[in-house]
Amino acid sequence: MSLSFTAYRHAVLLLPHCISGVFDTNGLLVSLEGIDGCGKSTQARLLQAKLEQHDIPFISVREPGGTAVGEGIRQVLLQTGYFLTAETELLLYMAARSELSRQLILPALMDGKIVLCDRFTDSTLAYQGYGSGIELQWIRLLNRKATGGRLPDLTFLLDLSVEEAAARRGSAADRMEKKDFHYHQRVHRGYLKLARQEPERVIVLDATIEAEKLCSAIWMTLCQFIENRAKMGSEDEF
Ligand SMILES: Nc1ncnc2c1ncn2[C@@H]1O[C@H](COP(=O)(O)OP(=O)(O)OP(=O)(O)O)[C@@H](O)[C@H]1O
Ligand SMILES: [Mg+2]
Repeated sequence: MSLSFTAYRHAVLLLPHCISGVFDTNGLLVSLEGIDGCGKSTQARLLQAKLEQHDIPFISVREPGGTAVGEGIRQVLLQTGYFLTAETELLLYMAARSELSRQLILPALMDGKIVLCDRFTDSTLAYQGYGSGIELQWIRLLNRKATGGRLPDLTFLLDLSVEEAAARRGSAADRMEKKDFHYHQRVHRGYLKLARQEPERVIVLDATIEAEKLCSAIWMTLCQFIENRAKMGSEDEF
């Protein structure tokens, strides 16, 4: 399936949508999610290449990080020397997200770009919510505050077992990856629960598939999503 720049413009610029009445934005927010080592960054790189090939305007960001403050927070969160309570962890992730959303994500969406996020709001629900036991309601509220109410339009959940992900990662592990097997299993199951709650937004993909094939599946779904939006936009015009 191919996606022309005209179809893209039609899809994302002619169908403005107002999120929570806070920001009136036009772009498309796409997130890649899944447990550590499932292949998110690999897919982010492959998708970037596709977007470049098709001349589609985009930015690509990773969480936590992407801003000067966010990268500093990333160091604190991922280096192994610290013990952090789950609440501290949650608030640090949210602080990094707030910076990233206001400095990069929201302005790019305002320009009608695709924003590709390597982890976003669902990571916090899966890790600090399902993994560490913090109330999901509280996390959802903070997610809305941190993002200015702009949540992902489309999310790809790369589904891989905890065992396979650990084998892919090898021995080097950061502070989050060092948490025990049961923690990662709760996170894994949590992700699948999130997908069941929002099946239209969260697309679950088998992450054992070869990376290039997986990227083609993601690309097809993304194109379909944009084309559906374009159709809805043209129906609204008549
Ligand atoms: N589809 C795939 N099949 C087999 N191996 C893969 C696949 N995708 C990625 N890998 C390999 O798995 C490892 C982890 O991939 P990657 O860094 O993309 O995962 P990640 O989800 O970004 O991990 P993290 O959460 O730790 O950042 C890498 O060595 C990568 O080459
Ligand atoms: Mg990664």
